[in-house]
Amino acid sequence: MSPQTNVRQSDKSISATTGSTRKTAGLRRTAVQGAKKAGTQLRAPKAGAKSAAVQRVAVITGGADGLGKGIAQRLAADGMAVVLSDLNARQLAATRKQFEDAGYAVETFKGDVSRLEDQKALVAKAVKAFGRLDVFVNNAGIEQVKPLDEVRPNDLDKIFRINVNGVLYGMQAASAQMRKQKGSIGKIINACSIAGHESYEMLGIYCATKHVVRSLTQTAAKEYAKYKITVNAYCPGVAGTSMWDRIDAAMSKYMGTKPGEAFQKFSEGILMGRTQEPEDVSNLVSFLASTDSDYITGQAIITDGGMVFR
Ligand SMILES: NC(=O)c1ccc[n+]([C@@H]2O[C@H](COP(=O)([O-])OP(=O)(O)OC[C@H]3O[C@@H](n4cnc5c(N)ncnc54)[C@H](O)[C@@H]3O)[C@@H](O)[C@H]2O)c1
Repeated sequence: MSPQTNVRQSDKSISATTGSTRKTAGLRRTAVQGAKKAGTQLRAPKAGAKSAAVQRVAVITGGADGLGKGIAQRLAADGMAVVLSDLNARQLAATRKQFEDAGYAVETFKGDVSRLEDQKALVAKAVKAFGRLDVFVNNAGIEQVKPLDEVRPNDLDKIFRINVNGVLYGMQAASAQMRKQKGSIGKIINACSIAGHESYEMLGIYCATKHVVRSLTQTAAKEYAKYKITVNAYCPGVAGTSMWDRIDAAMSKYMGTKPGEAFQKFSEGILMGRTQEPEDVSNLVSFLASTDSDYITGQAIITDGGMVFR
């Protein structure tokens, strides 16, 4: 479907679609208590998006849910055509429908970021649907909660395949397309974390993978600058997505904490007094995807409400 046929001009705000957006002051509900996931408010496309000579095109991996969905909706509201990839076909179809209903130009791809052939096919699908690729957000990632002494080879393989190989393959597939294009600067944007700057107990291997993402971001920035591609990373703090629900549950098992307690403990020092919403992340990604950040590359920027200082 072409962006021309699918972008609908509207100044109406589209209501929340996950049914879980919470705009509350102060520290939020725990990951487990109350409504489950940090929500996403779908906004209408920016006026003028349709009339732009060339609509920019963004791919978001892990875009069916959580932070990726929030990022996708923001980039769509910014006027981009978006291509969402995810392993979870059911969630992907539901999210696609929400985007279509909101009037966004959207395409979807069921794939696994840890497979290079899937990442290449994803880029090919984006180009087939919308003609080009401007922004590639390597968002998909998984967590792992284990003390170091219990980490086994399979644990290492699984998380490194997705969080590290997946990011590398995404960058390879995206840069191969972007370097063929003339004109604007290509933007590769990787999901890092505060865990890419500081390491935490019970999350040792997850933190290791995010440190690698920060390293790959720097190397790619150096190698891809000659192709007019910038490479940056966003580093969220504590957002109550499904990922944190799982972290909280696993920590309860290991440490005997009550449901929600680990999330609460991680969150209580946040200077801004609340945990993270997808919008807090997508505000930064929107900037990194825009021409306003053309002179920034190789950076892993923290958005955590004031937790980790670098
Ligand atoms: N939630 C947080 O507090 C937090 C903090 C820092 C960094 N991050 C990072 O942000 C990113 C998104 O996190 P989230 O909280 O939204 O996670 P999430 O688990 O809520 O959502 C992740 C999405 O990625 C998809 N996915 C998982 N593995 C995949 C694969 N192999 N291929 C394709 N899709 C896959 C899932 O189906 C899901 O839709 C991750 O890289 C995560 O490490 C999250």
